[in-house]
Amino acid sequence: MSDTLINQVFQNKNSSIPIWFLRQAGRHIPEYFQIRENEKNFINFCLNEDLIIRSTTLPLKYYDLDAAIIFSDILMIPWAMDRNVKFTKNFGPSLKPLIPNETKFLKNISLSSKLEPLKNSISFLRDNLPKSLSLIGFAGAPWTLACYMIEGTGSKDFINTRKALWSSFKWFMELIETLIIYVADKLEIQARAGADILMIFDSWSHMIPNNFFDDCAINPTAKIVDILRSRKIFVPVIGFPFKAGASIVKYSFESKVDCIALDWSVNLSWAIKNLNKEVALQGNLDPASLIPSESDYLRENVLTILDKMKDRRFIFNVGHGLTPDCKIDNVKEVISIVRNYNKKV
Ligand code: CP3
Repeated sequence: MSDTLINQVFQNKNSSIPIWFLRQAGRHIPEYFQIRENEKNFINFCLNEDLIIRSTTLPLKYYDLDAAIIFSDILMIPWAMDRNVKFTKNFGPSLKPLIPNETKFLKNISLSSKLEPLKNSISFLRDNLPKSLSLIGFAGAPWTLACYMIEGTGSKDFINTRKALWSSFKWFMELIETLIIYVADKLEIQARAGADILMIFDSWSHMIPNNFFDDCAINPTAKIVDILRSRKIFVPVIGFPFKAGASIVKYSFESKVDCIALDWSVNLSWAIKNLNKEVALQGNLDPASLIPSESDYLRENVLTILDKMKDRRFIFNVGHGLTPDCKIDNVKEVISIVRNYNKKV
């Protein structure tokens, strides 16, 4: 690797294709469990500088990557808002459900003091990681945070959240506006601490009723980017409107993000043709393709993605997080295919 991801994608158009993986720091790496043994409470884990630093750097021991994503969780904002966030083994997150029209959430919290360990870990990592490696900070998008806060847990259809949108629209928008500020604050803290790229995960954007997509996804993201720029934070922002279908066309023109992460269902030829050409693209490889021990299609599919994206500013990545059963050798193989491809073009 000769140049940073930032230069490759956000400054010099069409140079070689950089690579990193969503959820690269998690449970598919055996040592993750040893690190996790040190702190069984996941929130405390995300507040422990030593463990954040070790988890963030863990994938770098295995893989030749262009970026590290800071180890944290999108639910650290609801945690900071005192929504009683807990992670239970084999169940996932649970929170105290927010009742529509409840105004208790509208209080001023200081993310900067509550997320001090995150800030310190980023500063330490930026000082100690090679300059050639980009460090990514992130936050959940307001809609996705609202989904967990209202539902109180994960869900297949987030029916209570959607019901709240229809029954209490004005209240819902107040919640979104509050979250916009907290997301912008969290991203600003990370950029000031040294993150070179910021990513906004809208993991449940496919739950937004289509007529509310502007109100719940595009406008909040644009406002967050505006707030960051008005506070003189100019690092690139990657948006991830997961499975949002054709709505990503408008998102690409109006959300003000610098790069769009594409899930594995997006047709790349369609995306190249229809998405804003000023916006870089990332992702699309199905993380499930990294699970089988032997697959004839993996190499072929990686090459197809590379061929399609070679004239577009592109970051190679999966279309959603690596799963715990993905194989380290497959991840290594994908990296080597991308590196060799870069040498040829
Ligand atoms: O490598 C990395 O990207 C690590 C950092 C990271 C985590 N969560 C650590 C984590 C990131 C970027 C996230 C983002 C996140 N968290 C999202 C958006 C991305 C996506 O997957 O759509 C969402 C929706 C969450 C919320 C969340 N956190 C859930 C639903 C769960 C439980 C289910 C699951 O995936 O394990 C978590 C816990 C969590 N966050 C773990 C990790 C490594 C597993 C904790 C453990 O069991 O040790």
